[in-house]
Amino acid sequence: MKQLRLSIIGFGVVGQGLAELLVTKQALLREHYGCDVRLVSVASGRQGFIYREEGLDIPFLLQQAAKGQPFTQHPGVKHWVTALEGLRATGGDVLAEATGTNLRDGEPGISHIHAALTQGMHVITANKGPIALAANDLLALAHKHNVQLRMEATVMAGTPVLSTIREGMAGAKVRAVRGILNGTTNYILTAMAKGRKYADVLAEAQAQGYAEADPTADVEGYDVVAKTLILSAVVFGHTLEPSQVNRQGITGVKIEHILKAQEEGKCIKLVATLHAASDLSAVPIEARVEPLALPLSDPLARVDGVMNAITFQTDTLSEVTIIGPGAGRLQTGQGLLADLIAVAQHHS
Ligand SMILES: NC(=O)c1ccc[n+]([C@@H]2O[C@H](COP(=O)([O-])OP(=O)(O)OC[C@H]3O[C@@H](n4cnc5c(N)ncnc54)[C@H](OP(=O)(O)O)[C@@H]3O)[C@@H](O)[C@H]2O)c1
Repeated sequence: MKQLRLSIIGFGVVGQGLAELLVTKQALLREHYGCDVRLVSVASGRQGFIYREEGLDIPFLLQQAAKGQPFTQHPGVKHWVTALEGLRATGGDVLAEATGTNLRDGEPGISHIHAALTQGMHVITANKGPIALAANDLLALAHKHNVQLRMEATVMAGTPVLSTIREGMAGAKVRAVRGILNGTTNYILTAMAKGRKYADVLAEAQAQGYAEADPTADVEGYDVVAKTLILSAVVFGHTLEPSQVNRQGITGVKIEHILKAQEEGKCIKLVATLHAASDLSAVPIEARVEPLALPLSDPLARVDGVMNAITFQTDTLSEVTIIGPGAGRLQTGQGLLADLIAVAQHHS
């Protein structure tokens, strides 16, 4: 049986989702994958970092979180004020990084990932910031230390997009990518297509927990820009700056645009597009995030509500479309779980 010591940094929606899956999937991990995962440390911004060599009691941690009580009350733990100090002092085999996305400088995620890779830990992450801004540098660092850096959950949560490109479609040359990569905006546009007003639907999405209190990152397209940067790095091996993505959100989409699209047999979606640029272009990859009127024959046009989808145009498979959830506690936890299993299979 392989033993894996896991650290989870960022114990919010996603960190807790992964922790819950470690409990419900424990027998499967042991029996099917021959892997015994021991959660040895957990960290949040406000509570700091706790560590217990023998393993933490996950149901206790989840109960504390549900009750709004600190996980630092776990018996027999060592405590550090910051995750970085704790991680450097303790280590482990795998870091699951699930702190908040920050597209300005990628922190605190970049420092956590850097520290883990440098001390020979594999890293799995749901955090878009570090991968959007520094994927190729971090992948090079992982390579140097002979460990894996995996980021399935950063694009379409647990829906297998990045592993499909990397492993399932190995050898195929991807020529272009188009995707609906944000559930909140797709939910809003789907409701507007049924005649609802933008402000009403946004308020409803906020009440149902699909949209943040401050919806700017979603409705202005910044969240999709982050995923576009990740796809550029992972699919095309090219790091783009956020400013190199031509971005337009959905706040300018009016009912009259939707009605005009419907008259033409189309529907409006917020679409991320990536393709190899012409030889004359200054950048090798052209990237755009914008509302587009899609013909109903387009597979992306049929993807409604909070669902996400991505279409790859390749040399050997023509078009491949993947549809699935793009957010959620267990849905994103699943992306981390799949990465954890992939790491375990190559870990000696
Ligand atoms: N939620 C989804 O459906 C989803 C889907 C795909 C990807 N993601 C990505 O996954 C990541 C986590 O999302 P989430 O929804 O779980 O966010 P969340 O609920 O806000 O949780 C973020 C966690 O990170 C912790 N944190 C912040 N700064 C920290 C620091 N310096 N050291 C240690 N921990 C720190 C927070 O602790 P405090 O609360 O104490 O500050 C909190 O526990 C984000 O990058 C997000 O973009 C989320």
